Amino acid sequence: MPSLTGKNIIITGASGGIGAEIARLCAARGANLVLLARSIDKLEILKKELQSTYAINVHAQQLDVSDTEAIKAVFFEVLSDIRYADILVNNAGFGIFDYAHEAKIDDIKSMFDVNVIGLMACTSMVLPGMKQRRSGHIINIASQAGKIATPKSSVYSASKHAVLGYTNSLRMEVADDNIFVTSVNPGPIATNFFEVADKQGTYVKNVKRYMLKPEYVAKQVVDRMMTTTREINLPRWMSSGSIFYTLFPRIFERFGKKVFNQK
Ligand SMILES: NC(=O)c1ccc[n+]([C@@H]2O[C@H](COP(=O)([O-])OP(=O)(O)OC[C@H]3O[C@@H](n4cnc5c(N)ncnc54)[C@H](OP(=O)(O)O)[C@@H]3O)[C@@H](O)[C@H]2O)c1
Repeated sequence: MPSLTGKNIIITGASGGIGAEIARLCAARGANLVLLARSIDKLEILKKELQSTYAINVHAQQLDVSDTEAIKAVFFEVLSDIRYADILVNNAGFGIFDYAHEAKIDDIKSMFDVNVIGLMACTSMVLPGMKQRRSGHIINIASQAGKIATPKSSVYSASKHAVLGYTNSLRMEVADDNIFVTSVNPGPIATNFFEVADKQGTYVKNVKRYMLKPEYVAKQVVDRMMTTTREINLPRWMSSGSIFYTLFPRIFERFGKKVFNQK
């Protein structure tokens, strides 16, 4: 595993869930951190926790990634402080499980603003510096929903498919600049994500037994920082599912309907 000591790592959506766990593991490995999210109070608490345990620099900055002007302002400020980013973890994201005919336009826009446009805008803020330094790693937290679309998550799934398309193109664009680009595609993880996504609790009830722990997902991500890992698919058996889906979509949709209909 490459050392993370002294690396500058920016994490969006660091106030909870996977983002906060990624921050804890990066801190334990000696990285300096920039923690971004809307809940500045939670970021300040995390900052205090990390700085009282490790000899590292931690910035906590409020940022709503659906606001592209704010992204520009915050990244300018942060980058003028830390000078450069070694790693950007685009983790901020959310989903709302609705049937396509029920989905509200505001929710649709909002999911794309945060999950897609926000991720692209944050990436565009660090890429010039990474290209100049010929070093860097962009890690995009997508989802298994970006590989297999399931009922009642058409919008969320479409946003994560967009993330994967962007990630795959970017990887090829910057390969010669020695910048690594990784997508992370987890299945369900036990985080607050479902408080917004699955208000009725049906999905959580149905998939509880194979939900991943955020600490485990974070470790898989942090272990692969500054490596050429293309994709992290979790749990591993789900990636066989998406390969099968790509090869035999019609069979998969026909016979997998019951498995997919968990929401
Ligand atoms: N949980 C799952 O089952 C699962 C599975 C696959 C992929 N994912 C993806 O993993 C990522 C992290 O999710 P999680 O499970 O850790 O969920 P979570 O516990 O709800 O955390 C989401 C994080 O994103 C931040 N965030 C949300 N909207 C934001 C905005 N507009 N601007 C800035 N930050 C924002 C939240 O912070 P604030 O509210 O403080 O802004 C929070 O820190 C998401 O991209 C999600 O799509 C989750």
